[in-house]
Amino acid sequence: MPLVSMRQLLDEAAKGGYGVGAFNVNDMEQIQAIMMAAKETKSPVIVQASRGARQFAEDLYLFRLIQAAAELNPEIPIAMHQDHGNSFETCRSAIELGYTSVMMDGSLKEDGKTPSTFEENVEVTRRVVDYAHERGVTVEGEIGVLGGVEDGHGAGGSGLDHITDPDQAVEFAERTGVDALAIAIGTSHGAYKFTKKPDGSVLKMDVLIAIHKRLPNTHLVMHGSSSVPKDLQDIVNQYGGKLKQTWGVPVEEIQLGIKNGVRKINVDTDNRLAITGAIRKVFAESPEKFDPRDYLKPAREAMKKVVAQRMTEFGQAGHAGDYKPVSIEQIAKGYKDGSLSTRPLVAK
Ligand code: G3H
Ligand code: 13P
Ligand code: ZN
Repeated sequence: MPLVSMRQLLDEAAKGGYGVGAFNVNDMEQIQAIMMAAKETKSPVIVQASRGARQFAEDLYLFRLIQAAAELNPEIPIAMHQDHGNSFETCRSAIELGYTSVMMDGSLKEDGKTPSTFEENVEVTRRVVDYAHERGVTVEGEIGVLGGVEDGHGAGGSGLDHITDPDQAVEFAERTGVDALAIAIGTSHGAYKFTKKPDGSVLKMDVLIAIHKRLPNTHLVMHGSSSVPKDLQDIVNQYGGKLKQTWGVPVEEIQLGIKNGVRKINVDTDNRLAITGAIRKVFAESPEKFDPRDYLKPAREAMKKVVAQRMTEFGQAGHAGDYKPVSIEQIAKGYKDGSLSTRPLVAK
């Protein structure tokens, strides 16, 4: 199956009332882990690459691996997404490669660190939307700023520093025409999100619900949504790691989000922890081993287990065969003739 429009994937998720995990990849084993999980749970899936991932793996290697995943798994709808694009150019180059979706994260300036102004965000996001929609490619924007820093990307600080203002979210969505909108409700990237288990008020679920009520046709996106389970932290530490105890986003809060318009859920850290724990275990228990397959295979299996569990928890499991993928050319026509317009965005 060719790569699918993320817009189609999210529209179908909205119809079915479920969420779709968007999992970060940097290498072949991570892509394989996701595909193994998608196949086992019969899930449509979003695979995403950050700028750091594209640099690490080199664009062409990574993209050809995704194409291989699509060819080898014709029954699984896969959208390939640019995570946290920092500029028009990053999004343009992803589209040129064949990505079916891009995130223009205009909440930060091009340096990926400094919060931008609302007007700057609208302007660059609108430009990406015009370019992408003409080519049938989906666009995710971001309003409000997440906490934490990943690979040099992020504003730092706590996730509670720049919560999304619902009025701004509405104006942003209307002026840009994004298909999906990432909002800041208190999560942050990386392992260190919360110092104790967060409840619904720490996570500002009320803000999410308010935004969904006013923007019922815009798919909401939760970033920084790893749950950082204790068992994964424990395996890393048991075999020589030095993680401080930490809490992530409880799955029940994500499920509440899914009931209120969240369709895309970004998960990276949980998979990083699973991979690292599995590799540390082999190194600690079998120090005589030096064939990379001896530790990459258990690492891939550990990631597959986490991804399959999230696919089930987010509700995407079992939905791979629900619909026929529409070609990207067809999607481009839909944007042009208005049938895929997200308007009217605002609930009256
Ligand atoms: O948004 C962050 C993702 O976890 C990707 O992280 O930029 O370190 O590849 P990265
Ligand atoms: P986590 O660090 O919580 O996995 O978040 C990943 C993310 O938001 C990628 O864009
Ligand atoms: Zn993110």
